Amino acid sequence: MTMKIFESIPKLRAGLNNAGRLVLVPTMGNLHDGHISLMQHARDHGDTVLVSIFVNRLQFRPGEDFEKYPRTFVADCERLAAANVDYLFFPDEKEMYPTPQKYFVEPPAELINILEGAFRPGHFRGVATVVQKLFNIVQPQVAIFGKKDYQQMLVLSNMARDLALPIEIVAADTVRAADGLALSSRNGFLSPQERAEAPRLYRSLETIRRAIQAGNHDFARLETEAMTELRAHGWIPDYIAVREKTGLQLPPAHDSGLVILGAALLGSTRLIDNLEV
Ligand code: PAJ
Repeated sequence: MTMKIFESIPKLRAGLNNAGRLVLVPTMGNLHDGHISLMQHARDHGDTVLVSIFVNRLQFRPGEDFEKYPRTFVADCERLAAANVDYLFFPDEKEMYPTPQKYFVEPPAELINILEGAFRPGHFRGVATVVQKLFNIVQPQVAIFGKKDYQQMLVLSNMARDLALPIEIVAADTVRAADGLALSSRNGFLSPQERAEAPRLYRSLETIRRAIQAGNHDFARLETEAMTELRAHGWIPDYIAVREKTGLQLPPAHDSGLVILGAALLGSTRLIDNLEV
């Protein structure tokens, strides 16, 4: 079957018949191999795969990169068709927000006032709202999110549980370049020198993971050392944090279900990554 593209909500609703178990993969486009891996997970979890591409203004703050977020629709379509995606939902801003959005999904403060949420106020409210809206439009049985955006994945899977959404949330592992850098649309903003430097973020998370596995539970010190190392190489780190992985709160020293998260500016590009222990 060739991939069918819908730009309007009514056409999508009328066109999705006999979909069986429908799997939604929400994206903002500019697709790379990390996104494409989600399409493969989607295949394993249902009968029909629907991808959405929508650069969601609600989750960007003034001064963030909404305007310059890369939009590469033609190349994205080719990649999705090659990945055997069944449907693409590609609404424009008027379709998703015909009038300014006034109802919102508000994730709990303890999950959004920390880490990414602390540096991007309003971000997760914008993400939760657009994803809930996509769920209402598409009505999938399954939705796939990447662990690359670990806090986002938790915000959304907790949302599904807390609101009893009839949707199974699947978390997919992060796809990396050979040198360890997590694939991201924002990597395209890096200069060649910055691209060569970029894997240091991942390596610093790995260093912490090795130390923890070797029995070092002085998390605060491990975090500080990693930030110092990044600064020494020209980065401006926002945070490097060892957290428990179900709610991203501070872990007790003996905790084993840990995730190490990091965000840092390299030049003018902000990179994030994380590693489960
Ligand atoms: P976007 O950044 O386009 O990412 C779409 C999905 O791809 C997310 O679930 C993200 O975690 C996943 N992803 C990105 N890079 C990945 C990688 N290297 N390996 C595996 N998965 C990866 O995240 C968003 O869009 C938006 O916030 C969205 C959920 C679509 C709501 O607007």
